Amino acid sequence: MLSLHSKICEVYAHPLGRDIVDKMLLEMGKPAWLVDNPIIGNLTLGAIQKLLSKNLGSGFFDAILNLLNSEPDTPDTHSVPSSPAWWKEAVFYQIYPRSFGCDDESNVLRGILSKLDYLRELGVDAIWLSPVYDSPNDDNGYDIRDYYKILPEFGTMNDMDALIAGLHKRGMRLVMDLVVNHTSDEHPWFQEALRDENSPYRDFYFFRKSDGKPPNNWVSFFSGPAWNYYPEQDIWALHLFSKKQMDLNWECPALREEIYKMVRWWLERGVDGFRLDVINYISKTPGLHDGDPFVGALMTYTGVEHYFYGPKLNEYLKELRGKAFAPHNAFSVGETPGIGTRMGRLLTDDYRRELDLIFSFDHLVSPGHTRFDDYRYDLSYLKRFYQSHLNADLGHGWNTLFFNNHDNPRMVSKIDPEGLYTRPLAKLLAVLQLTLRGTPFLFQGDETGACNVKFNSIEEINDVESRGLYAELIKTMPPDKAFRQILAGTRDHARAPINWEEHERQRGEADSVWRFYQDLIVLRRSSRALIYGKLEFLYPRKKKLLSYTRSLNGEYFYIEANLSAVKRRSKAPVGAVLLFGNYGKSGGKILHPYEVRVYRVTSIV
Ligand code: GLC
Repeated sequence: MLSLHSKICEVYAHPLGRDIVDKMLLEMGKPAWLVDNPIIGNLTLGAIQKLLSKNLGSGFFDAILNLLNSEPDTPDTHSVPSSPAWWKEAVFYQIYPRSFGCDDESNVLRGILSKLDYLRELGVDAIWLSPVYDSPNDDNGYDIRDYYKILPEFGTMNDMDALIAGLHKRGMRLVMDLVVNHTSDEHPWFQEALRDENSPYRDFYFFRKSDGKPPNNWVSFFSGPAWNYYPEQDIWALHLFSKKQMDLNWECPALREEIYKMVRWWLERGVDGFRLDVINYISKTPGLHDGDPFVGALMTYTGVEHYFYGPKLNEYLKELRGKAFAPHNAFSVGETPGIGTRMGRLLTDDYRRELDLIFSFDHLVSPGHTRFDDYRYDLSYLKRFYQSHLNADLGHGWNTLFFNNHDNPRMVSKIDPEGLYTRPLAKLLAVLQLTLRGTPFLFQGDETGACNVKFNSIEEINDVESRGLYAELIKTMPPDKAFRQILAGTRDHARAPINWEEHERQRGEADSVWRFYQDLIVLRRSSRALIYGKLEFLYPRKKKLLSYTRSLNGEYFYIEANLSAVKRRSKAPVGAVLLFGNYGKSGGKILHPYEVRVYRVTSIV
């Protein structure tokens, strides 16, 4: 049991403690080695509380200690060989249906079907399809009105069946989005629960009476309080996201059974697995107490400590897997914002039977920044991140490798906002995705090096998150400054329509990003070393040079990347054979801006 008498180093030895301290340091832009300093490491929490008492109430330490003491488990640290699985070998590709559309097709699902040969040619094995369910589209489909129906503008259930069959015919798989932290407020469950307080659906959501103000101080990820008031019923309901995305109460057994039933229904239809939307938020601390203001200020969202790794999360995930996924041998990847490496292992280590993989996002934003800061992403942070996280993940766990999705600005633009090095950078990221240890998830447009969009005004922005934030920001700053922040972080950068002409052009161009991805995927597929092989990082202190080896059963690769726009020396070993490079195959002693190279070597010294 950890208490105020525990030392920082003891907190750091706890898997959650380590992730939480790392996360806090990251948010503050402070380096993790601070904790290794013996003076700091030997301070007790009580002493820190006294030192900082002006800023911190006791609530902060209670919040952290409660969280730590709620998790008795630690990840198994024995190094075991990874057991093979199709989803460790596959290359995934995320489709955001709203912007994947092809004009010449009758609907979106038919349009996707018509592009399967294209995706297969690129080397894609499995598709993650963002929501296509019936929805009022307050959050582009992440607000589901009917889990059993396709959004009419996307197609019909027949089109869906045709897509599943089309994928399977080509040896490809389909992963659907599963949004079960919340439903739309237009879902019949919510409608009935709101209308009738004796309805069995009342317990599916979090309804609370509260006089004149929200029942607690939690804030929504999309700005403002996390509670909506319904004057006719004089009742509040919880929504961590938009006012139309009502949180489901997983404490209610009947709700959980409805969810498992629905998951099984889709799996019986032929779906191969799910990406589970914000799945780490499904268990909320009973009582829904106020969030600590200091944690709130640090993590941007007050209340987050009560649900980002809730007390029953592991229990619910085990149940979901046991009752719905396991009978179909289905694959799961959880979206888990805020979950660090060790907590992540508790969610994904194979012997725990919870999730197969997770997406966490700490590598997408440089320390001390948020997504909405206008800054230049520093790739040397990515190197540090990978060195500590991918190494820590030996044995039972497995990683996801991605730089983009529908919720983030494009990575190439974050690194190089002027777009001077888009092509070499896109290829550099491709190499990391396909030669590090983990499963690559491409997002539509990655294969052409798609960049951020040049929006001119807030009217051009559609995203509910950005619009809510803009309305908040202009209360305290001039509109042009507020718009600059929106431009830095808006999710609409990733949601712009696919430029199919560009895709077809690059497909036919020898030196394109498209062809580079295609060739790399062929290489990855031909080599077990690049999938299951050992990963070792070299030159850990050279901030601007990322260099590592992959090896298995006598097959060796050496990979190096210049993480900056300044030329530097290659460290390739003598005799190494250059297979790939974003500056051609000539090699040489000097690495150009953002140059990346993949070599085959005969041994590793
Ligand atoms: C996830 C989705 C995001 C959505 C949110 C609420 O983060 O990726 O697009 O807005 O959950 O469902």
